[in-house]
Amino acid sequence: MQKDKLIKKYDKQVRNYEKNRNNPTLAKWRRELLRDIKGNVLEVGVGAGANFAFYNKNNVHITGVDFSPEMIKSATKEADLYQLETQFLLKNVEELEFEPDSFDHIVSTLSLCSYQDPVRVLTKFNEWCRKDGSIRLLEHGISSNRFLSFTQKTADPILTKISGCHWNRDMLELVNAANIQIERVERYWSDIVYMIWAKPSL
Ligand SMILES: C[S@@+](CC[C@H](N)C(=O)[O-])C[C@H]1O[C@@H](n2cnc3c(N)ncnc32)[C@H](O)[C@@H]1O
Repeated sequence: MQKDKLIKKYDKQVRNYEKNRNNPTLAKWRRELLRDIKGNVLEVGVGAGANFAFYNKNNVHITGVDFSPEMIKSATKEADLYQLETQFLLKNVEELEFEPDSFDHIVSTLSLCSYQDPVRVLTKFNEWCRKDGSIRLLEHGISSNRFLSFTQKTADPILTKISGCHWNRDMLELVNAANIQIERVERYWSDIVYMIWAKPSL
């Protein structure tokens, strides 16, 4: 999908993502993923700031990136609510550049499904994340259930048209292809949900 179209699609979905902040299951996973994070954090595809409630506000500085102006507006309000130290960049994640070792942690929740080249984005994480830092992912992707994965593959073109994101990606395969070192994985909902704790490649 063309970038401008995708941005409009996400702009229009901002109210849904604001409501989604209160989803109790997602909230549980977000809390678990982020609870020990401290320092300089890059959050890509930050959306409406659904993770902000789960950071320790005294210990983090968050750089939130998103190409949707409506999402950035909403995330800015959410950051104020939680008194978080933040800076926001209205940019395409696939075109981002940072100095090596710029961040202690890199967080992506439900964003790898959207990128045209997710392996390229993940490969950049290796460079931007300090070697003693971490990469934290909460993503949806292909199920291990044969019936569900068949449906996900078959319906992917139409689902992408509707939601702007892909439903057939194997997140472990992508992370491995980027040479990121996986330390822990949890899977839920017939393995559609992937929680990944990882380190950048050495
Ligand atoms: C499915 S939403 C997830 C939002 C949030 N991370 C969450 O957990 O609720 C994906 C977000 O990534 C953003 N996004 C998708 N592709 C992007 C890109 N190439 N550059 C910047 N932002 C992008 C969208 O605008 C949207 O806000």
